Amino acid sequence: MRRKVVAGNWKMNGNRQIAKDLAVGVSKIVERLNSSAEILVAPPFVLMTDVAENVSSSVNLAAQDVSSYDNGAYTGEVSVDMLSEFGCAYSIVGHSERRALFGDTDEVVAAKVAKCVEKNVQPIVCVGETLEERESGKTLEVIGGQLHSALEKLTGDELEKVIVAYEPVWAIGTGKTATPEQAQEVHEFIRGEVAALDEATASVMPIIYGGSVNAGNAKSLFAMADIDGGLVGGASLKLEEFEEICKAIG
Ligand code: 13P
Repeated sequence: MRRKVVAGNWKMNGNRQIAKDLAVGVSKIVERLNSSAEILVAPPFVLMTDVAENVSSSVNLAAQDVSSYDNGAYTGEVSVDMLSEFGCAYSIVGHSERRALFGDTDEVVAAKVAKCVEKNVQPIVCVGETLEERESGKTLEVIGGQLHSALEKLTGDELEKVIVAYEPVWAIGTGKTATPEQAQEVHEFIRGEVAALDEATASVMPIIYGGSVNAGNAKSLFAMADIDGGLVGGASLKLEEFEEICKAIG
């Protein structure tokens, strides 16, 4: 049985009160559902304390990004050790918004992934194609390239700490979800690529889908053979909707 994961990426939203309310709300959801899945929330860095102080231990904390450096003169960066102090055991890495807007290249993403696994924080490595890339038939080539550069230097043991998130750029925040079949095709491809790196890890690695996941489409996406959960943006800020998504994972 593969682990199932539902992660709420709050992006740059909320404030201290909203973060506390969401933390309490998600904790209640997890207690109510007694889900077999790992439920994660990824608040902005500065709200991590408020969230950490208000979530139950059954909710896992994730960062939205992390530095590839240990410490030192890196203005604006946050290290893996700092995250660990808050009990934050996961970090999103290589989100398309970081890649497109803040210059996170494949090399930067690979360095961040390496730092996470070295320090025992599980990286949620995001890969995804743009609409233009999909329409020109380059989806699998793009995903393969992003995946290889992020993962190829990891040993089998390190690879086991990784979660991959397939997030088609055209589906993020657009209300336009990949169909379950479109998503499954890419997830199956990702699992195959991971198998080429390390056969044993491929069968246990959670590969989650992100891009306009909501209460209405979560169940059909999560029903696909290689979709092990979701990375949820907008809908993770609405407790009722997030609960439905968590229910859909079972
Ligand atoms: P939306 O669910 O808002 O489309 O965002 C997806 C995402 O980018 C999660 O990381």
